[in-house]
Amino acid sequence: MKRTTERTAMRLGLTGGIGSGKSTLARLLQARGADVIDADAISRLSTEAGGSAMAAIAQTFGADFVTADGALDRQRMRDHVFAVPLARQALERIVHPLVGAEVQRQAEASRSTCLVFDVPLLVESPRWRPQLDRVLVVDCSPATQVRRVQARSGWNAAAVESVMHSQSPRAVRLSAADLVIFNDVDDLSLLEQAAGALAQRFGL
Ligand SMILES: Nc1ncnc2c1ncn2[C@@H]1O[C@H](COP(=O)(O)OP(=O)(O)O)[C@@H](O)[C@H]1O
Ligand SMILES: [Mg+2]
Repeated sequence: MKRTTERTAMRLGLTGGIGSGKSTLARLLQARGADVIDADAISRLSTEAGGSAMAAIAQTFGADFVTADGALDRQRMRDHVFAVPLARQALERIVHPLVGAEVQRQAEASRSTCLVFDVPLLVESPRWRPQLDRVLVVDCSPATQVRRVQARSGWNAAAVESVMHSQSPRAVRLSAADLVIFNDVDDLSLLEQAAGALAQRFGL
């Protein structure tokens, strides 16, 4: 907290269910001058070949969990945390602090007046809220989520619904919001208008 007096940028947490349009809105805000910090991308990088979490993962879980090129064996870890639920916490104890440190590094390197933290599980992970000034939720109906993710990723409806069930219910997410962008209509010009209004509000 030593930097609070120097902290002038608006820190906006951007969240929403899978397929709601978070990444699309983040890109629109980025085009208007916001700096975007992508928590999922940082987390994924930490377990790719040479990633910052890999030494600790090999030490904690064993070399069997590391592929030949030095990345996390994701399928093996998925099977393991399914069979041994405590393993997820052990993995998170390694990855979360590293993600937090990289997020901090990127935030401190930013010169923008608005920092957007794209955090899919912001509402599910209480560690995020204290770092943020406002929480912006991108909202749409569950049917729209299913349709969009099917179109984007080629998944079947059951696969999309299983991810949706692992996330907070819509009402819980909405109750955590300071601002809500309703993005249920597939029309980018509407989302661009919303991005424009946000940019104006947050000094971009
Ligand atoms: N307003 C919109 N108009 C058209 N397509 C949209 C709109 N919002 C989202 N999409 C599309 O829906 C899909 C999911 O959006 P994305 O931003 O990837 O969601 P999230 O990051 O929340 O999972 C993408 O293919 C995106 O292009
Ligand atoms: Mg996304």
